[in-house]
Amino acid sequence: MNLAPFMYGKIADGVEFTNREKETTQLLQNFHVGINSILISPRRWGKSSLVQKVAESPLNKKNNVKYCFIDLFNVRTEQEFYEVYVRELLKVTSSKWEERVAQAKKIFKKIVPQFTVGLSPDSEFSISLDWKEIQKAPDEILNLAETIAKLKKIKLVVCIDEFQNISFFDDPLGFQKTLRAHWQHHKQSSYCLYGSKRGMLMELFTDPSAPFYKFGDVIFLEKIKENYWVSFIKKRFRDTGKNITPEQAARIAQLMENHPYFVQQLAQQVWHLTKKECSDKDIDQAVKNLWQQNTILFQRETDNLTNTQINFLRAMCHNVKQFSSAETIQAYKLGTSAGVIRIKEALESKEIIDTVGPQIEFIDPLFKLWLSKVYFK
Ligand SMILES: Nc1ncnc2c1ncn2[C@@H]1O[C@H](COP(=O)(O)OP(=O)(O)O)[C@@H](O)[C@H]1O
Ligand SMILES: [Mg+2]
Repeated sequence: MNLAPFMYGKIADGVEFTNREKETTQLLQNFHVGINSILISPRRWGKSSLVQKVAESPLNKKNNVKYCFIDLFNVRTEQEFYEVYVRELLKVTSSKWEERVAQAKKIFKKIVPQFTVGLSPDSEFSISLDWKEIQKAPDEILNLAETIAKLKKIKLVVCIDEFQNISFFDDPLGFQKTLRAHWQHHKQSSYCLYGSKRGMLMELFTDPSAPFYKFGDVIFLEKIKENYWVSFIKKRFRDTGKNITPEQAARIAQLMENHPYFVQQLAQQVWHLTKKECSDKDIDQAVKNLWQQNTILFQRETDNLTNTQINFLRAMCHNVKQFSSAETIQAYKLGTSAGVIRIKEALESKEIIDTVGPQIEFIDPLFKLWLSKVYFK
């Protein structure tokens, strides 16, 4: 018996994956002709799942396209970057570590990577590099993808997640210039760079003075539309011997504002409470359960906000659109119109809200629900 037909917090694949046809086609096409791609969206909207899905397409095999996945979530220095970069790229050359070491000896002329291998045959191997050597000859590493692609006669797509982390390095601008200078000459390898800090990534890729300006296709990933969620949720219920009406499925998507992670989370909770036929009460109860699980977190979040910031969120819960109008400022005690801009910026940097063009929205739809139904009640 399947106890969790919905999935959240991990890569969604197979039956857990829905929609994204348009983006899949575009990325696949880019990867196959070697166009670099930049994928931007807030956290947990589905970037990693999408790139993984594209990499699993059977068309890759046909066209001899291989992938290398690098996640910078815990990488804070240039040296660490080079080490994961070499380690993950060498995995493409062979599945056996002995062969990887042999390949490395052939590929590297100036740099001598040190290998450490765990005891069991399938354990991770790690690599350490001499920082002084790298600084003298970073080319070998920066051209590594292209070198391997040529050696193996493949097309290689290097996928780098949480790419914005390179701004933590000691000399981010210098590093970007070096990367760009090498990567732009590559023919058989291309790069898919993605991450969730929109502001930072926009600066990296859309500012005409930035080294990565016009490096590739910039794609802003959207949420998944309601109609996809309705058929997805219905099917997952049906496949596991339960039923939900289209209206109820739509309500789950609406409550979570079509946010991929939260829709899956709520759907799972509703499914769990449903005996056989989903009732509206099951949905109400599921939402309450999720609040309860998060109450401590949400309370802490509100404790850390100033009064005007809370007032701003209250206005958002009332669907106010014009925050700097005199009426809003007065009705919600927001201070001055210059103050409103500062409030907005503070809430953005606390990752509570997100602004896309003129639109302001809560990053966490559950927090919004909790504020409206519990906190502001
Ligand atoms: N195409 C999809 N179909 C269904 N659910 C998805 C999809 N993409 C993402 N999700 C949901 O969102 C969650 C976060 O996805 P993830 O790919 O990790 O996002 P990101 O990399 O943008 O942070 C997944 O665990 C899953 O619950
Ligand atoms: Mg991710």
